[in-house]
Amino acid sequence: MEIRKVRFEDMQHVYELAEKYLREDYTFDLFLKLWNFSPDGFLVAIEKEKIIGFIIGVKTGIDSLRILMLAVDEKCRRKGIGSALLKRLQFNFPEIRKIYLETRVDNIEAIQFYKKHGFKIVERARDFYTDGGEAYIMEKILF
Ligand SMILES: CC(C)(COP(=O)(O)OP(=O)(O)OC[C@H]1O[C@@H](n2cnc3c(N)ncnc32)[C@H](O)[C@@H]1OP(=O)(O)O)[C@@H](O)C(=O)NCCC(=O)NCCS
Repeated sequence: MEIRKVRFEDMQHVYELAEKYLREDYTFDLFLKLWNFSPDGFLVAIEKEKIIGFIIGVKTGIDSLRILMLAVDEKCRRKGIGSALLKRLQFNFPEIRKIYLETRVDNIEAIQFYKKHGFKIVERARDFYTDGGEAYIMEKILF
């Protein structure tokens, strides 16, 4: 398994993973914009030339990073791929003190995933998603 920065030719596969595994509707154009905005924070995991996961993180301040999306192909889960993507993202931004994200309150696997990586729930946000769903805001202070 290899982790590297996303390339234009990966974008359609990333979009398909997002459509399949993330519950918000994102436009293809958004992925291109995020790539342009945060090239070091948009990473893919590849196995046998196939994209099996991706993560998108953007800097939101001098020392803070927000994870916008993370997904791993369901056939490849519980093998450390999500963890490897998160670690590489952190590695690419050594100046970051705080990483945070939002996840649906019923997304047990994501909540467990982030807890395992030292994130804590700091807030509950009502009406966060377009369907009115609630989110937990989770954060990790690195140093
Ligand atoms: C969350 C997600 C990215 C995790 O990816 P992954 O490659 O399976 O993660 P890892 O293999 O690195 O898992 C690390 C840890 O996360 C936790 N975890 C992952 N999946 C879990 C599950 N289904 N139930 C409970 N804990 C889980 C475990 O603590 C796991 O460690 P363990 O396998 O040693 O017990 C993946 O489940 C996913 O793509 N979910 C759908 C999209 C999504 O919800 N994204 C997050 C939106 S914020």
